[in-house]
Amino acid sequence: MPAKVVSFINLKGGVGKTTLALAIGEWLAFGGGGQKVLLVDVDPQYNMSSALLPVAKVTELGNQGKSVYHMFKSALVGTNWDIGQAIVKDCSNIYGNINLHTIVSGPDLGRLDEDILECRLTGAPKPAIELHTVLGSHIQRIKEQYSWIIIDCPPSLSIVTSNAILCNDYWIAPLIPEALSVFGVEMITTKIASLEEVTKARLPIKFGGSILNRIDISRKDHQKRAFQIYNKPARYQPFDSWIGDWKPLYIVSDYDYPGEALSYPEWPSVREKYGGEHSWAENKADTPEKALLQSKLGLGGSYRIANVVLNLAMEFKRTCI
Ligand SMILES: Nc1ncnc2c1ncn2[C@@H]1O[C@H](COP(=O)(O)OP(=O)(O)OP(=O)(O)O)[C@@H](O)[C@H]1O
Ligand SMILES: [Mg+2]
Repeated sequence: MPAKVVSFINLKGGVGKTTLALAIGEWLAFGGGGQKVLLVDVDPQYNMSSALLPVAKVTELGNQGKSVYHMFKSALVGTNWDIGQAIVKDCSNIYGNINLHTIVSGPDLGRLDEDILECRLTGAPKPAIELHTVLGSHIQRIKEQYSWIIIDCPPSLSIVTSNAILCNDYWIAPLIPEALSVFGVEMITTKIASLEEVTKARLPIKFGGSILNRIDISRKDHQKRAFQIYNKPARYQPFDSWIGDWKPLYIVSDYDYPGEALSYPEWPSVREKYGGEHSWAENKADTPEKALLQSKLGLGGSYRIANVVLNLAMEFKRTCI
């Protein structure tokens, strides 16, 4: 079976796209079943790349032309680019990795707009391939090698995000229960509709749902908005597993590789990375809103964070079939 391609998208920044894409990818690759996962970073901020690899290594890959920027640039100027040579296999801070691979991004991806403009202004020949379908056409070649291809998108409506939308089976929206974060999801829905209008076709991409993230259980406004979202499930299709503002998750996307290291496995297992047996979260249900959140988790008033993330990955697997 070819891989399912799933993008994490929300126009709002800082909602957990990178953290949750990585967390789910790691649990699919390392937890139990051990599925083959390719994580593709298409954000010029390259947060996912630098969480998976030391920055020196990401820079080296960029210099060798093994980054998504070069994927787009070569399509623009009409040179060959082989996605196979850009796949990095030793890309994890968890020991024993054989299932998790990545393709990195880098800051040069932020130059793509200028490159396109420059080509237009200098009258360069039109690219042989439509620039909105570059990512999809490359991914198509390696779909058979993976169970999951997960794309971490930037908080923008650039051509890169359109590429992700056009090559996807599903999109998932991480969502902090706050107004602007919800608005960011609406903007993506509108973008998909406008791409459908322009292409005069119904795109295959399906909404896999939203994942409520960084819920601060002590905040009344978070509780209230989460309550509203769960009470209108048709609109945002929220995952039952929601994620709190939890310390073990800071280190997922903000992992600080020692600068000089080229690779540095640190965690003996994915469970240990997510706090192991000792990391608990509390959710004492003293309001109906908290009770609803608690019932969604189905784990009682206190629960292991690693178990919640595992449940989230399992729900993702059931959803994006
Ligand atoms: N559940 C969580 N608990 C604690 N910290 C979190 C959680 N989710 C994300 N964070 C932290 O919040 C910050 C933003 O998260 P992240 O980078 O994943 O968001 P993003 O949507 O990818 O941002 P951007 O739009 O800039 O790409 C990071 O510092 C991350 O470590
Ligand atoms: Mg990000």
